[in-house]
Amino acid sequence: MRIWHLAWRIRPVGFFGAMFGMTGFPGQFSGPVFRASFPGSFLGFALARVLGLESSCDETAAAVVTDGRVILAQHIASQDEAHRPYGGVVPEIAARAHVERLAPLIAATLADAGLTLADMDAVAATAGPGLIGGVMVGLVSAKALAMAADKPLIAINHLEGHALSPRLADPTLEFPYLLLLASGGHCQLLRVDGVGRYRRLATTIDDALGEAFDKTAKILGLGYPGGPAVERLAATGDPKAVKLPRPLLGSPDPHFSFAGLKSAVLRARQAGIHADADIAAAFQQAAIDCVLDRAARAIVAAGPVTALVVAGGVAANRAIRAALEGLATAHGLRFVAPPLALCTDNAAMIAWAGVERLALGGREALTDGLDFVARPRWPLDPEAEPVRGAGVKA
Ligand code: KG4
Ligand code: ZN
Repeated sequence: MRIWHLAWRIRPVGFFGAMFGMTGFPGQFSGPVFRASFPGSFLGFALARVLGLESSCDETAAAVVTDGRVILAQHIASQDEAHRPYGGVVPEIAARAHVERLAPLIAATLADAGLTLADMDAVAATAGPGLIGGVMVGLVSAKALAMAADKPLIAINHLEGHALSPRLADPTLEFPYLLLLASGGHCQLLRVDGVGRYRRLATTIDDALGEAFDKTAKILGLGYPGGPAVERLAATGDPKAVKLPRPLLGSPDPHFSFAGLKSAVLRARQAGIHADADIAAAFQQAAIDCVLDRAARAIVAAGPVTALVVAGGVAANRAIRAALEGLATAHGLRFVAPPLALCTDNAAMIAWAGVERLALGGREALTDGLDFVARPRWPLDPEAEPVRGAGVKA
C-alpha cells in the first residue's frame, strides 16, 4: 500500500498571518504542520474544525480543516498501482481498497493534527456523485464517526468540494464566480453564486475533459492515470504537426464535446506517421482551443462575476491554467486556480466544503441526517436542462 503523507503549511489568516509573516499560499510541501490545537476562544475568534473524507473514485483521503483555512493534517492514499494493469479505475477494486485504507488513514490524520474526534465540530464525507461502492465506504464511515462522537454529519457533493476548493486557498475569492469544473467524470461551466447555489451554463455532451486526456493516454500507451502523462509528453511535441478537430468550436451554447477529438487521436495514431509527442501536443492544443472558446462564451452568458476560476483534476494542467489565465486577463477578469495538489481528488476540499456549509447555518440547516443515502449521480444544478448528446454527464 502506498500512502502519500502530505503535510501542508497553509495560509494563516488575520492574527496568525501577521504573527508568522506569511501572506501567500505556498502550496503543498512536507514539513511541520501548523497546529492550532488551542481553544479558539482564547484569541477571541471561533475555531471550527471539520474532519473530511473522500472515497468517490480511486483516492482514499482524510483531512482536518479549520474555518481559518488551515489544513491541520491530511493523508491521501492513491490506488494508481492497483488500477494500472487495467488502464482505468475498476470500481470493485477501488471499493475494497477504500475499506482497507480509510480507517487507518483517519486515525493517522487525527494523530497528525494532534486532535481527536471529540475536537471536531462536524464530520463531512463525499456522498456522491461517484463510484457508488467507494462513496458508500466513506459516507458510512462518516456516519459511524458522527454517531459515535455525537457530531453533525455533512454529506458533501464531490463536485461542490471541487467548486469551493479555490476559496480554501484564496480567502479573497468572492461569489459569484465563473467556474470551469473539469475532472475525470465532469466538464462543466458553472456560475457559483454561493454555497449550494450553482447555475450550470454548460456541460459536455459526451466525454469529460479528463476522460479525453485519459483515453488519449491509453491510445498513446502512456498508462494510467493519463492526464499528467499526456501533459508531460505534450510539452515535448509540436502541436501544429497533427491536424485535429475542435468539436463545437463557435457553437452558440457553451457546451463541450470531446468524443470526436478522441476518435481523431486514435486515427492519427493508427496512421503511424506522427510522433506520439506531436499527437499529445496537438490533442492538448485542440482541447485548450475548445476550452477557451467555450469559456469565452460562458463569460458573456454568466453576467457580472468576480473571477474566472478553474477546479477539478484537469485544473492541474499547467498549459490549460496558463491559457485560461490569458482569457481572463483579456476579459478584465481575475483568474483563480487552486494549488496543484488541491485540484485532483483530496479530502481537504471535502472538509472545507463542510466548513463552508457549517458556517452558513446551524446543525439543522446545513447538516444531514444519518439516513442520507449515497448518490451515484448528483448534479450541482438540479434545474439545469438536459442536453442532447451521446452520453451526457449530469
Ligand atoms: O478531480 P479528479 O482527481 O477526479 C475526478 O473527480 O474525476 O480528476 C481526475 C482527472 C483524470 O481524468 C486525470 O487524467 C485528470 O483529472 N488530470 C489531468 C491532469 N492531472 C489530472 N488532466 C490533464 N492534465 C493534468 N496534469
Ligand atoms: Zn474529483
